[in-house]
Amino acid sequence: MNRRHRNMLIGASLVAVLAVTMQTGAQTPAEIQQAVDAAYAKFRTLKEGKNADYIPALAKVDPNLFGIAVVTADGKVYTAGDVKTEVSIQSISKVFTMAQVIEEQGLESVEKQIGVDATGARFNSIIAVEAVRTVVGSGAPEMNPLVNPGAISATSMVRGGTADAVWQKIIGFHNDAAGRPLTVLQDVYKSESDTNQRNQAIGAVMLAYGYIKRNWQQAVDLYTRQCSIGVNARDLATMGATLAAGGRNPVTGKQVLNSSKVPGVLAVMATAGLYDDSGKWLYHTGLPAKSGVGGGIVAVSPGKFGIAVVSPPLDDAGNSVRAQRAIADISNVLGGNPYAARPR
Ligand code: DON
Repeated sequence: MNRRHRNMLIGASLVAVLAVTMQTGAQTPAEIQQAVDAAYAKFRTLKEGKNADYIPALAKVDPNLFGIAVVTADGKVYTAGDVKTEVSIQSISKVFTMAQVIEEQGLESVEKQIGVDATGARFNSIIAVEAVRTVVGSGAPEMNPLVNPGAISATSMVRGGTADAVWQKIIGFHNDAAGRPLTVLQDVYKSESDTNQRNQAIGAVMLAYGYIKRNWQQAVDLYTRQCSIGVNARDLATMGATLAAGGRNPVTGKQVLNSSKVPGVLAVMATAGLYDDSGKWLYHTGLPAKSGVGGGIVAVSPGKFGIAVVSPPLDDAGNSVRAQRAIADISNVLGGNPYAARPR
């Protein structure tokens, strides 16, 4: 190899390193993988928390399941642990159904019809609905599409002539964000359908107060189905990376959501993604995120990466213990906190 060729090669490698560096902060692929591996090793034996059991099928999921995935905004995938076994997506689906409504009907539709403010209450609070009772359209209610009442309302807003038409849109949007066809975990769907009287009550109250316009039973059923979609850590990280990359799935290249809609989606995640612990989470990580009682958490570092962890045991607020710890650690190493950005 002559000197010119060698210099060209060195130049090309530098550009490659710089490209990765731009995507994640300051890391080479080996350093990103090392951060993922280190968090996996550190938290693998952590035993805090308990599986959700108010949906009986969730209590039967292996509490030792632990998988971590990072997908960068340029589509590179880093994993550790079990990133193949599926858990039910649960509340993480709320982000993507909200995004779909925003895509279809605009940012204002969700703000006016549901609200984009924290309730300050648990995710399935009925008191929160009573406390914020307003005439819909007369002012933004203290509600959002990431708590059950707002999520069931968002599902009711997805347009379609039949329940199946609405469902095809919901599952289609999730598939596009994950980059593969997802399926419903039937045991979870049945288990939650048999025990979701509280959500049925919420659906009926949301109809009575005008948040839901018609057919609350259909909305609750489709909401229950969307919560039962099976996902692994890699799926969730890809869904997060789609939001990190301006609505374009960086693995498949498909534009799933218009980039102008992404900041609104991330804002609601930052406000309410980890429910009444959202403030604490944001304080420590700065990352818009969403948890599900199936044990998944997905977080987004805008322009840099999506990160997800699956680990079923939850804390008192309903958020996976190991997922919170591992994501915070990895994002710290990768410089993921958008509030820590400095001028270049
Ligand atoms: O409606 C429910 O209660 C569940 N399908 C979803 C709740 C959930 O995931 C809350 N997340 N932390």
